[in-house]
Amino acid sequence: MSAQPYESIPLVKGLPLVGNLPKFLRNPLANAQSLEVHGNVVRSRTFFETVTLLGPDANQFVLHDREGNFSSRGGWYYWIDAVFPGAIMALDDPQHKHHRRIMQSAFKRAAMERYVADMGPVIASVVGAWTAGPMTMFPQIKALTLNIAARVFMGMTLGPEADRMNQSFIDTVQASLALIRKPLPPFAMWRGVRARRFLVQLMQSKLADKRAAEGPDLFSQLCHARGEDGERFSDDEVVNHMIFLMMAAHDTTTSTLTTMLYCLARNPGWQDKLREDAQALPDAQLRYADLAGCERTEWVMKESLRMYPPLTSIPRKAARDCEFGGFQIPRGTPVGISPIHTHHMPSLWTRPDDFDPERFSPERAEHRQHAYAYLPFGGGAHLCIGQHFADMEVKSVMHQLLRRFKFSVPEGYRMPYQLVPIAKPRDGLPITLQAL
Ligand code: HEM
Repeated sequence: MSAQPYESIPLVKGLPLVGNLPKFLRNPLANAQSLEVHGNVVRSRTFFETVTLLGPDANQFVLHDREGNFSSRGGWYYWIDAVFPGAIMALDDPQHKHHRRIMQSAFKRAAMERYVADMGPVIASVVGAWTAGPMTMFPQIKALTLNIAARVFMGMTLGPEADRMNQSFIDTVQASLALIRKPLPPFAMWRGVRARRFLVQLMQSKLADKRAAEGPDLFSQLCHARGEDGERFSDDEVVNHMIFLMMAAHDTTTSTLTTMLYCLARNPGWQDKLREDAQALPDAQLRYADLAGCERTEWVMKESLRMYPPLTSIPRKAARDCEFGGFQIPRGTPVGISPIHTHHMPSLWTRPDDFDPERFSPERAEHRQHAYAYLPFGGGAHLCIGQHFADMEVKSVMHQLLRRFKFSVPEGYRMPYQLVPIAKPRDGLPITLQAL
């Protein structure tokens, strides 16, 4: 049977003028679940009319994409090109393949061992300054991950230069999400464009040194990165990739650490198990060799990312006419998939709303039922290049935090959550720390 035309795809109109946007912004999971009632291929309007494809087969169709049906550039361009030009996530083949090959060499094992060694002292100095008592966690975690990035990405020591860089970086990220897309003062896009200019100058001023001698930081690693045939990045490419990498790493890791803290504060039994594992390791700072001993921390991280994936949906644009689920999708159609929806499908997960880290244990391995059932890091050619970096950073922070403090939330507390554009607590997550 031939596929039905695009116009036959069920259309969920939503509210006049704004369509489904308010619902999507309020709760992308509930929004996707309400679309599912109409099938696994549904048209709706959020920012513009988009076809949402639901479920693991849809995720595979869009992300695996051996046929080249979808453009990542087409999906991301609108959001990131003004402040993150040249971002790898917004490149399509053959440029994407070329850049990815070179970038990959900055994430090889030897480099990763040095990154993890370098983040330990930063975590010790920031977490070491925390005191027992009530604390609004989200801003503290954000400051911590920015300081880790200043050291591990840029090779900077903490101080005024790192502070200015961190602020510029925050302004740049906010611009990417700005509703007013023109750089008009005093709006976010204007601040972002200025902040980007500062970041570019800062990085350019350090390029010669980074090129001269290979250092352990990611900036230096990118300067010396080589593809399989010896190809390398130009100066402008290094700067563009650095600024994008900082953004790709920052909010996502901050979000993950915050959700993990929340889940562990609400589940003290799991917190005790992870503390036991952290205390069983020999050193106060996590080493690369210790990562294998963090199995239960990994389950908790996976479970937090399942319940609250920092990127709730992933955008693409159809680069060719194609078909899915019995419908035609013409070239140029904005298409979205919804990891958060797949992560809550009762057909894949036992009691999907429950916090149950053991579902990731080798015995249960619920995430292995389908290659695209679990996708907090995406999949296919654009699979997150920083997945292992994020894993190391989260485990390193958790290791030190668990060895220093117990943490709790009041009985019955539920974190009010904003899931778009990146998952974060609306109230900053009030937690009480108790020194050990
Ligand atoms: C828990 C933390 C993280 C999450 C949940 C996450 C999630 C994602 C997702 C879903 C994508 C795919 C987007 C798409 O297909 O359109 C992605 C891509 C990417 N991520 Fe991450 N990320 C995390 C941490 C990091 C870190 C730490 C870095 C860098 C050190 C990083 C660098 C990147 C880059 C460069 C891409 C684009 C890759 C490409 O286009 O080839 N991410 N990330």
